Amino acid sequence: MDSLPAETLNINWLWVLAYLIGPGLLLVEFYRYFTDPLRNVPGPFIAKLTAAWMLYIDLSGQRSNTIHNLHKKYGPIVRVSPSEVCFASPAALMEIYGAHSKYPKAAVYDCLGFKSTFTTRNRDEYRVMKKRIIPSFSPAAVAEIEPTVHRQLALLIKCFDKRLNDPLDVLPWFRMLALGVVGQSFVDDSFGGLQKEELPDLLNHIDEVFPVLWVKWMFPLTTTILQYVPLNSIQKFLDSPARFKKYCGSAYETYLASHDPVEHHDLIARMVTEKRSLERSNESIPRHLTDTGIVEELTNLVFAGTDTTSNTLAYLFWELSHQPEWQFRLREEVQQAVGLERESFSYSEISELPVLDAVIMEILRLRPAGPAGLLRLAPEGGAVIDGVAIPAYTTISCQALTSQRDPTIFSDPDRFDPQRWIDGKKHGTADRMRDQLLVFGKGTRTCLGRRIAIMELKSTLAVLTRRYNFEVGSLTTDDDMEMTDHFVLIPKGGRCLLRLTKA
Ligand code: HEM
Repeated sequence: MDSLPAETLNINWLWVLAYLIGPGLLLVEFYRYFTDPLRNVPGPFIAKLTAAWMLYIDLSGQRSNTIHNLHKKYGPIVRVSPSEVCFASPAALMEIYGAHSKYPKAAVYDCLGFKSTFTTRNRDEYRVMKKRIIPSFSPAAVAEIEPTVHRQLALLIKCFDKRLNDPLDVLPWFRMLALGVVGQSFVDDSFGGLQKEELPDLLNHIDEVFPVLWVKWMFPLTTTILQYVPLNSIQKFLDSPARFKKYCGSAYETYLASHDPVEHHDLIARMVTEKRSLERSNESIPRHLTDTGIVEELTNLVFAGTDTTSNTLAYLFWELSHQPEWQFRLREEVQQAVGLERESFSYSEISELPVLDAVIMEILRLRPAGPAGLLRLAPEGGAVIDGVAIPAYTTISCQALTSQRDPTIFSDPDRFDPQRWIDGKKHGTADRMRDQLLVFGKGTRTCLGRRIAIMELKSTLAVLTRRYNFEVGSLTTDDDMEMTDHFVLIPKGGRCLLRLTKA
């Protein structure tokens, strides 16, 4: 008898394997599905099966929009991956982020590549670190930063004055302003953007940090393997957090070479003085007081304070470009407060102005710089949130984009309407609206830099609306300004084309 061709034998073996493995995999999936404690939480079917779906959405910058739409479809509790559930009720917001929250930050913060107060998840370690940096955010410290804001604003005005009447992409200019303020304030280096009228390289590296972070978080094993793949593009991609850190490292070295920390009281001086004192008494130095630890803290501060503030400013002036009546109201209010003839004024003269305050509150509500969820973990033993039992170590969150557009609290929630804050104060509803805000986080992990951010936003708004009219600079601007996010809000087109004229 003729023997069978080899391919036929191979095909038979493949069929045997398929018959064995196929049903085996199906059985495993069935078992997982029916024993899955979260199987009744609504959400897309694919999200229950694999985290890859959410990674794809994260990498395409659509996390907050997608989850916002899922809440509209499925309600206030949505499952977005096998181990992640998102909430959208005021009660869940207080439970997860309120002052007595028992939910630590999720593992994603470990992947950022910088160990800092912001990324530290262990509560005891966090308390010690926060105590060390908190004096840099006190009202007195913020007052010391004010002249830096005005110096950077004076440079910005010079740059804008040269570029009047034509379409101008304001985004890079606001990025240079914000970087100049935090850089000068925390690492004593503005990185020279507005002086040289050129985007510092550091800002290109910030853009690359978040995609690396998501891949590391979702696929830690793959990332470890990728580290050994000898391809330039992969190594360059993975190395971006380190490249970003290098800039703050060299600013730190310059600081040490030119300052005696004993004679200063800024953050670097305080940390270095504490480190040296431990060295003198032969005590062990905690990691966050080593040179690497200090640089990582500084890097994270520069990171936390740059694109958050600048992107808020870009969205602010874009919204105002559509509503010139608010530009007139702002200009009138500021002129009345500081007079016509004075070029400069202090923050205390404008900080409480009602129209200015309402406009800033509204942009923080409508275009939160971190629109997506602030990820937390269910504690050991699990938790019950909004009546749903959540197993231990499930990733949970609420997101600013959804809580800040809750139609039961904000009428016509997708509209930029500063009047709602002015009316809210009159009618006693402003506190309820404020409770819904997650733009600066909440509770013990709330943004430490929020006073600096508000001072910078209000000062910039007052100075620029007094001097310029803002109009949309191109027909494509509205499309460019669609919201995307890689943790920080980024306009889809990566630019914001406006037209400035003298007021
Ligand atoms: C519009 C501007 C800003 C927004 C919307 C913003 C938003 C936030 C949010 C949402 C968090 C909490 C993150 C979480 O819980 O995971 C946070 C934390 C933080 N932010 Fe900001 N931020 C802004 C500006 C700044 C500035 C200018 C600084 C100062 C350099 C800063 C420093 C920090 C720090 C140190 C933390 C960590 C707080 C902690 O964990 O104790 N932020 N920020």
